[in-house]
Formats: sequence, structure tokens, C-alpha cells
Amino acid sequence: MKKQYSNQDITVQWEPEKCIHSKLCWKGLIEVFNPKNKPWINMDGASTEAIMAQIQQCPSGALSYQQQQQSIGSNESNNTNIQILPNGPLLVQGSCTLQLADGTTVIVDGKAALCRCGASSNKPYCDGSHVATKFQG
Ligand code: FES
Repeated sequence: MKKQYSNQDITVQWEPEKCIHSKLCWKGLIEVFNPKNKPWINMDGASTEAIMAQIQQCPSGALSYQQQQQSIGSNESNNTNIQILPNGPLLVQGSCTLQLADGTTVIVDGKAALCRCGASSNKPYCDGSHVATKFQG
């Protein structure tokens, strides 16, 4: 269930199934990312540069953007990096293909947070359940 929000410069894409509820977006730029508002993203709340900078802080890739004039998303390099968050998910940044246990494939292009604890109800993505289960690893 992707949702898109645009201004004259960029289109922000919101993929809620990827969100790990880090709250970085609304703690960092509440004028744009306010979960109490509907729609919760206000593209007039800050400059395009501020919105892009905040989206680059999104650890899960649930938020990404594409510039209107170019095909540039949150993925800015050809390298794929995988980071293990202490007591949390694997953060994938870059492009790769995941093959799931049922044989289907998922293409990651940008960022994704993959469940490492086994408790997510949205596998392969982390849904933040590792916090409630007090996952250690
Ligand atoms: S690592 Fe976050 S739900 Fe499993």
C-alpha cells in the first residue's frame, strides 16, 4: 500500500509495510511528518531540501523520494550495505534481490529493514515487534 505525496520538486513515497516505527521522521521534522494529521505528510511544511534530508535519515526505507527532473531515490550509490542494528533488524541499503522461503523474490532498491528477531507479522520486513519482545542479539 504505497502512498505518494508531491510538491513541485519531489514525490515522496510512503511504504507503511516497511516502517519500523523509529519515529525519526516526525521527531526530526514534525512540520512535515505529523502522525496526528491526515494526511500525515505535509509537503508544504518545509523546504524540499529539508524534506529530502529528513527522508535520508529513515532507517527502514519506508520513506523515499524521487526528484521530478531525475530518477534519483534515496539510494545514492551502487553499493549494497547491510548493517545489523543491536537488538533489532538488518538494515539493507542499496539494491539487491531477496529470495523468500516460498520461492518468491522481493527487489530491494533503496532501503529496507529486515526482521532478525522472528516476531514481525510483516516478514521479511521488521515491523518494530523486536521492541515488544525485547529481542537481544
Ligand atoms: S527485528 Fe524488528 S520485528 Fe523482528
